[in-house]
Amino acid sequence: MTRWTLSPEKIPSAWFNVAPHLPRPLDPPLHPGTREPVGPADLAPLFPTALIEQEVSTEPWIDVPGEVLDILRLWRPTPLVRAVRLERALGTPARIYFKDESVSPAGSHKPNTAVAQAYYNAKAGVKRLATETGAGQWGSSLAYAGGLFGLEVTVYMVKISYQQKPYRRSMMQTWGAEVLASPTNRTNAGRAILEKDPDSRGSLGIAISEAVEDAASREDTKYALGSVLNHVCTHQTVIGLEAIEQMKLAGEYPDVVIGAHGGGSNFAGIAFPFLRDKINGKEVRLLAAEPASCPTLTKGVYAFDYGDTAGLTPIVKMHTLGHDFMPPGIHAGGLRYHGASPLVSKLVHEGLVEAVAYAQRPCFEAAITFARTEGIIPAPESSHAIKAAVEEAKKADAEGKSRVILFNLSGHGHFDLAAYDAYLAGDLEDYEYPREAVEQSMAKLPKVEL
Ligand SMILES: Cc1ncc(COP(=O)(O)O)c(C=O)c1O
Repeated sequence: MTRWTLSPEKIPSAWFNVAPHLPRPLDPPLHPGTREPVGPADLAPLFPTALIEQEVSTEPWIDVPGEVLDILRLWRPTPLVRAVRLERALGTPARIYFKDESVSPAGSHKPNTAVAQAYYNAKAGVKRLATETGAGQWGSSLAYAGGLFGLEVTVYMVKISYQQKPYRRSMMQTWGAEVLASPTNRTNAGRAILEKDPDSRGSLGIAISEAVEDAASREDTKYALGSVLNHVCTHQTVIGLEAIEQMKLAGEYPDVVIGAHGGGSNFAGIAFPFLRDKINGKEVRLLAAEPASCPTLTKGVYAFDYGDTAGLTPIVKMHTLGHDFMPPGIHAGGLRYHGASPLVSKLVHEGLVEAVAYAQRPCFEAAITFARTEGIIPAPESSHAIKAAVEEAKKADAEGKSRVILFNLSGHGHFDLAAYDAYLAGDLEDYEYPREAVEQSMAKLPKVEL
């Protein structure tokens, strides 16, 4: 047997909250103006109360509402697959499993939280959501989920992706969303960037500034973020909770659990539920894989920084490359955010989570081996997890050990074929983000006294 599915009633009915399991609590997020810890009232213009409560919750479990379960059940539980053909191609005795999040309507793990966020907003009487998107996976997920709950959705899409990924835009519009190429003229943050650089390609940090400003300036609108925040990571834990049950069915327990890392949510989703066992003494490694061109966890500094470019969001303690980070134009693999989830950052800082960075060409090479053996064409983001799984298998071979590897296939790459074209044509270059650039940005971190 190489594929383990769970019946629809086995979908987890509560999300796993990692907060009470942390060795030390998170540092409080700070108000960007006063630099004092933010309270619920500060977040109320952006998020509905239920999500603010989840953001600060220390309850170990949070119930998944029935209406959310009804929608998640359209594609969940997702399959767990043993990648036997990949193992054979690698000639490895390691056993490689992947959780297939590519089967959702939008093609990634992102709808797991989009549906929950849309639900809580609709319940709170919100009419419209503003958000940002890079490659378009998150924007399309929120467009889909918002539509199900009768919400209008406006997506600020990073301009370079808007131009390079027209079909993600079509997808969002098909689901009823308004999509704008960011920076726009609609917000102060966008206008300020365009004034300085009319040809700006945009960045996630800029698009976040625009979406936050949009939400904060309208009564009927709230903001939704597809990664980074505690409640987003929590919503994604359905992935790991299902995987634990499916690994039991397969008669295995992973030596290493791997996720690609952008803002941290799919990694958190697969890895956090395993952290309980790790803290209780089980030998399991948790490994986040990120791009060498945006090496937030491996080269970023663990410090207080803004979540966006304009400095409108709370200041949070996280691994950061600096809020003025601009991703290199040649980078095709997504995962371009300057910061990281405070939860994942804390766990890296505490030594409970490991991180590794890979250049893009070896990631595409691994993605193509995966596509040719397992059939699914992975999202370029997910290829970082595949590359890490391949490297773990090789390391085990070199040590003469068998190893059970579990990784999260966070999405498919059907809308990313231009990046595959570029790789196949030999047009992609590897680029390592320089340490000096990180050091320069550190001078611009907000000054914080705690
Ligand atoms: C397919 C896929 N995987 C991974 C990511 C990275 O985000 P996160 O770290 O929040 O999972 C993204 C982000 O857009 C994505 O679309």
